[in-house]
Amino acid sequence: MAKKIAVFASGNGSNFQVIAEAFPVAFVFSDHRDAYVLKRAQVLDVKAYAFELKEFANKAAYEQAIVELLEQHQIDLVCLAGYMKIVGPTLLAAYEGRMINIHPAYLPDFPGAHGIEDAWEAGVDQSGVTVHWVDSGVDTGQIIAQVRVPRLADDTIESFEARIHEAEYQLYPKVIKDLL
Ligand code: GRF
Repeated sequence: MAKKIAVFASGNGSNFQVIAEAFPVAFVFSDHRDAYVLKRAQVLDVKAYAFELKEFANKAAYEQAIVELLEQHQIDLVCLAGYMKIVGPTLLAAYEGRMINIHPAYLPDFPGAHGIEDAWEAGVDQSGVTVHWVDSGVDTGQIIAQVRVPRLADDTIESFEARIHEAEYQLYPKVIKDLL
């Protein structure tokens, strides 16, 4: 039977869109009810769920609700794509080994929420994109695939960032295809 995937995104959702254009996505989940990714889901006719941590008693209860959603849809692979929450023990216990993330830097260099800006400010002559398994750390899980992205002499942060995103759009669907 075909494997089922879910995508988690907190904001813009451009990676979600690229994934959804390449594969059937069972649903997208956002931790923000007003995230732009939800509009993209509507246009692409992908089922979407959104609920916020502050609506629950604690993070365990929040993640339990997410796990129930994943189980209800019999999801085989969770693809984090700009999901800005650290995955906690409840969600990890249920989905570790079946959850991947994309990071806009060449890990282990520049983990965290500002991978592109941090690489730019460090003055690197190349950075990259990484897809890795999710563990309890921040961008520390086992690396599945990475590509290098050069910083060109006439780059601005905007052009550098655009090239990194372009590399993400190439790499993430490729990795998902291999895993499925
Ligand atoms: C991407 O750069 C991804 O690597 C990072 O967050 C960004 C999300 O962008 N984790 P988008 O929401 O997919 O447009």
